Amino acid sequence: MDFGMKNRLARIIKPEDGKTVMLAIDHGYFMGPTGGLENINRSITPLLGYADSLMLTRGILRSQIDAGIDIPVILRASGGTSILKDDLSDEDITVSMDDAIRLNASAIALSVFVGSKNEKQGIVNLSRLVDKGYKYGIPILAVTAVGREMARDARYLSLAVRIAAETGANIVKTYYCEDFEKVVETCPVPVVVAGGKKTGEREVLELAYNAVKHGAAGVDMGRNIFQSENPIGMIKAVRAVVHGRLAPEDAYNAVYKKESD
Ligand code: R5P
Repeated sequence: MDFGMKNRLARIIKPEDGKTVMLAIDHGYFMGPTGGLENINRSITPLLGYADSLMLTRGILRSQIDAGIDIPVILRASGGTSILKDDLSDEDITVSMDDAIRLNASAIALSVFVGSKNEKQGIVNLSRLVDKGYKYGIPILAVTAVGREMARDARYLSLAVRIAAETGANIVKTYYCEDFEKVVETCPVPVVVAGGKKTGEREVLELAYNAVKHGAAGVDMGRNIFQSENPIGMIKAVRAVVHGRLAPEDAYNAVYKKESD
């Protein structure tokens, strides 16, 4: 691996502890104006100082994010299907490498839908991005998107995650599940977990804690942070769990609640 690739990865996954808190705000690429992301300046700008990286689309990056920010960008580079369709798996690469470089991306993200009817398309798209990523020294983050009909269990997720890593992804994002250590143990590259739909703050802190305890390199989390009643408290609490290994209950009481007072 060349210096550029290693250096970009080190900006995302902190070398001090091998952990990361990615703030994901890319949902609009297929969900439109997602709750909490209607006004990026109001809801997201105050959180940027607490995220290790920011995952988003080029449209939001160009129009809403101050170019002076000191935060690595993970650029969403797949899409093509909206939430109005039953099957979301029909995605292609939607950003050229030229534009990713122009935008100073520290990594490029795309979804693969293993087991879907567009499985091959996703895996081939990933392999194409990996080829270009190595050409220019930009890591590729594969998002293992799970269709509604798929079980989010260790058997399926370890298959999807391993296929993404075998195809060349430098980081793989997936979901937390029972026996999560099996997913991580069989994946040769760092695994990060998504937060999923908004749920209780305590549950999410527990999820982040257990994910890291069982080998995850951290989280790539969106709705459970920006849809929280107290997004700053929540991202600080997630950081305390991921980087500080604070127990979830302590992070909830001493960080999340304290910030709400
Ligand atoms: C899909 O919309 C994206 O990959 C999100 O970045 C991902 O699902 C993480 O966000 P959340 O924690 O809201 O699930």
